[in-house]
Parts: sequence; structure tokens; C-alpha cells
Amino acid sequence: MYKLKEIADNIYYVGVNDRQKSFFENLWPLPYGVAYNSYLIVDEKSVLVDTVDVCYSDVFLKKIADALNGRPLDYLIINHMEPDHAGSIRLLRQQYPDVQIVGNKTTFSMLEGYHGINTGLYEVKEGTTLNIGKHEFSFIMAPMVHWPEVMFAYESTEKILFSADAFGTFGTLDGGVIDSEINLTYEWNEMYRYYACIVGKYGNPVQRALQKLKSIEVKTICSTHGPIWREHINEAIGIYDRLSRYEGEQGVTIIYGSMYGNTEQMAEAIAFSLSENGIKNIVLHNVSKSHASDILRDVFKYKGLIIGSPTYSNQVFPEIESVMSKLELREIKNKIYSYFGSFTWAGAAVKKLAAFGEKMNWETTGVPVEQKHALAETNYEACLALGKAVAEKVKEIN
Ligand code: FEO
Repeated sequence: MYKLKEIADNIYYVGVNDRQKSFFENLWPLPYGVAYNSYLIVDEKSVLVDTVDVCYSDVFLKKIADALNGRPLDYLIINHMEPDHAGSIRLLRQQYPDVQIVGNKTTFSMLEGYHGINTGLYEVKEGTTLNIGKHEFSFIMAPMVHWPEVMFAYESTEKILFSADAFGTFGTLDGGVIDSEINLTYEWNEMYRYYACIVGKYGNPVQRALQKLKSIEVKTICSTHGPIWREHINEAIGIYDRLSRYEGEQGVTIIYGSMYGNTEQMAEAIAFSLSENGIKNIVLHNVSKSHASDILRDVFKYKGLIIGSPTYSNQVFPEIESVMSKLELREIKNKIYSYFGSFTWAGAAVKKLAAFGEKMNWETTGVPVEQKHALAETNYEACLALGKAVAEKVKEIN
């Protein structure tokens, strides 16, 4: 019954869309949903690359059965064991008991732990090949992008890289699945947000994986989330390269907390000055309203970062504290950093923001501003000076 998109000779898209889940990993909002991508290659032998979230196993298994049209499924390549992809493995094995499961040693320890499967395994290492007729796969280990068992499968006839989560985006595939068939609107922004939230801590492993890809020709990238990259393949790789090197674009993210608007007025003054001094990409996040995933996206995207907080019970504002811990967890590097804050009877936030910058190894730019009570003329001027100093440094980058 199912007509399937043939993305290359005898290679079919068999993924599904999830428009029901509110939060990915129960953490990250999904305003555009998410796609769980899976691919079926039908040759002398048949190969499935990854599965889907167990909630969608019914339609997923029907798609595979339709594509196989009575033939057995010979291999399942597991590039990644996180349950949004591995969730349907046990049911797939029940339907195809003879399927050989292809993975590495770490994959198999997770496979046994999550699904109790420890037979019919085909273990691969870096460079192992699997020939299925006209198509041949080789395997590239990509540990910690973003789990330890992650690997890529490279199909050399069509030069397709099956890249697990790498180069993925949030957002469903609404009809079209290949980038050239889609009017890309939110996808790039969602790629930044996906990277920042899911992969962001693992810049060095991403760089190591990108280095390995330099030795092969890749014409198509089939990620486990979001569009298949063909026309825009260089942009997708470029974004990953830049983000994993922590090379932000020319722009500034201001994150601030404010109870009664006094710290907010400082943020506004700094933003005004950034603009007056030639910065076009300026994003202000009121930490009480913006979701952390949007904040993380912009912190990764832009080179400049300015944090403002009122003192709250002798600490930084609680929501700012929460964002700081997310930034620390991701070990974000190379920021052009500054900070500001206000207090009523005893200032603590600005000192803590100074200590945070030191801990993160970010050099402070300009003179941070601390205001007691409402914004005074001198401190207004100091905020303008802070904005100017950050703008000048941010403009030094390309
Ligand atoms: Fe899409 Fe790391 O799972």
C-alpha cells in the first residue's frame, strides 16, 4: 500500500513523522515536530539503516513489509542506539527473526541491555565492509557524536553517508524528504537548535568525525532527523564544522533576568549601543520567557555573549543560574563575553557572573556594569560603553 520515496537506485526512505510529542528527550520543545528517518536498501540482500521511535513501529513495519514485498530483511545497521531510533528493534526482530544486526561492540552491549538481544549479530569496526550486491557499505566510527556507540555507514556506489544524528534537524518532513524538494524555512534554525541542545557538548568528537569524512566523497547525507542533504550538503557540513569549532558568527546574544525591569533597561542600553556600533545580529533573551533551547541555539550561533542578572537572595537570578549550568555542561568555548547586573541592598550577581566567565575561560570584554537601584545616568553611559567594546571585538571576526 505504501508508496515510498526512492532517494537513489533501490534506496528508499522509510522514516516517520512525529507531530505528537511536545518535548524531545522530554526537554526540548518541538514546535515543528520531529522526523525519525530510516532507510531501506533493496539489493541482492536487503538492508535497513536504523529504526524509529517505538510509538511509530506499526506504520514503520508496514512500510518495510510493503517495500520488501515478501522478501526477507537480511541486515539491520544500527548507527545509534538512542531509543528515538533503536526503539523498534525488538519488534523488527520479532517480524524478521533472521535479520543480522550490524553494529560495533558498544552497540551490542546497549542492544542486550535495552532489548535483550545478543544473537544474530554482525560486528563491525572502523573500515569493515559489507557487500550486498551492487551496493557496498563501509563503517566509520564516530564515538560521542553524541553517544559512545555512534557510527556512520557509507554506501560507496551512490556515495551516501548514513550519518546517525549528525547533520540532523528538528522538524517533520512534510511530504518531501530531500532538501532540493523542500522550501527550507525553519530547518536551518532548527539545525542550530538541535546541535546546541543535543550534540553541543561534543565539539571535539564532531571535529574528529568531520576529519574522517575528508577522505571520502559524499554526495548525499542521510541523517536520522530532518531533510536528506544533497543540494545543500556543503552548508550542512559547514554549519557543523563551525559550531563544533565554537566559531560563532558576527552577532551578540544578550541573556538577562529581570524582576522589575531595572536589569532589563541595562540590557536595552547595551543592545542599542551594539546596534549603533554596527552589529546587526543582536538577540535579547528574557530568561524568564525564552526557552533554554532557543538561548543555547543563539549562544552557539553568535560569537558575542553578554549575561545580565539581578541579585536574588544573594545569588544570581535562578533562571540565569539554570542557563549558566546548561552553558557549563556544554563546555562552550571562545566567547567574547561580558556581563552586568543590578541589586537593591547587597550585590552578588555581578561577582558570580565574573567568576563564571573565568571558569569558562572566556576573556571579559569592556567594563562590566553593576547598578544599585534604578539605572543611573553614569551607569547608562557605562552600558553604552560596554556595548561599544563588545561590538568592536565582535566586528574583528569574519
Ligand atoms: Fe536522534 Fe541521539 O538520537
